[in-house]
Amino acid sequence: MTGAPLLEVRDLHVSYGSVAAVNGVSFAVGRGQVVALVGANGAGKTTTLRAISGMHARGSGTILVEGSPLKTSARAVLDAGIAHSPEGRQVFPLMTVRENLQVGAHLVKDRRLAAEREARMVARFPVLGERLAQSAGTLSGGEQQMLAMARALMTGPSLLLLDEPTMGLAPIVVGVIRELIEQLSAEGTSILLVEESADLTLRVAEEMHLMDGGRIVLSGPTGELVGTEEMRRLYLGGQGTTSSTSNGKESPQ
Ligand SMILES: Nc1ncnc2c1ncn2[C@@H]1O[C@H](COP(=O)(O)OP(=O)(O)OP(=O)(O)O)[C@@H](O)[C@H]1O
Ligand SMILES: [Mg+2]
Repeated sequence: MTGAPLLEVRDLHVSYGSVAAVNGVSFAVGRGQVVALVGANGAGKTTTLRAISGMHARGSGTILVEGSPLKTSARAVLDAGIAHSPEGRQVFPLMTVRENLQVGAHLVKDRRLAAEREARMVARFPVLGERLAQSAGTLSGGEQQMLAMARALMTGPSLLLLDEPTMGLAPIVVGVIRELIEQLSAEGTSILLVEESADLTLRVAEEMHLMDGGRIVLSGPTGELVGTEEMRRLYLGGQGTTSSTSNGKESPQ
C-alpha cells in the first residue's frame, strides 16, 4: 500500500471524433470516500467515468490506481478494483436477473467466489433475489437500477463508478439508493458519483467537483461549495432542497 489515493485522474482529455468532451480534468478519490462529479448536461461527467472504466478511449492524461497507471482493458480495470454502473442502467432486458448478475461476474474466474457474490447481492437486494429468473426488462426502473448496481458489485470493486442512479425514480427508491451508497462507503468501497439530485449528492458526497464544458471549474468539500454562485448556477439551478431535476433532463418514466 502506498500513501497514494485510491484513484487519481491527472489532466484527462477525451474526445468523440473531433468533439472535445473532457478537457484536462484532474481529481482524486480516497479509499471509502464518496466523491461527486456534478454539472449541467453535456459537462463531461459521463465521459469522464467512461474513460476511467475503459468504456471509451482516453485521448491523453494519466489515471492512477493506488499510484499505478491504469490500463484500459476490461481485465486491467477489474484487477484494479473498478466497476461501473452506467448512465441509463443498461441492463440486458431479455436476459434474466441472474444472467445479468453473471455478466457482471464473467471475468471472475473463481466460480465459487462468483456464486458467493451472487448470494451476497441477493441478501443486499432482496427484490432481485425474488426475481432471479425474471427477464430484466420486466423490472421496474428502481429494480433495474438495483440490478445495474448489483451487476457492478459482482466484481467486488474497491471503487464504484455510479452514473445517475436515481434518474426517473420515486423518492422512496432514492432513499434506498442513498442508504446503499452510505453502506458501501462505510464498508470501505469508494464511490465516484454522478447524480442530478442535489438532495442526494449533498447528503452523501464528502467532496464535489463541478464540471462545465469538459473542465472542473470548482472543487472542494461539499459543505464549502454549496453556497457558491457557480454551484447555484451550474448544478443547483432551480433545484429546491427537495427537487430532483437540476439539469432539465426528463425522467424516462
Ligand atoms: N457518443 C457521443 N458522440 C459524440 N459526442 C458525444 C457522445 N457522448 C457525449 N458526447 C458529447 O460529449 C460532451 C460530454 O457529454 P457527457 O455525456 O459526458 O456529459 P454529461 O455531463 O454526462 O451530461 P448529462 O448530464 O447530460 O448526462 C457533450 O458535448 C456531448 O454532446
Ligand atoms: Mg451523463
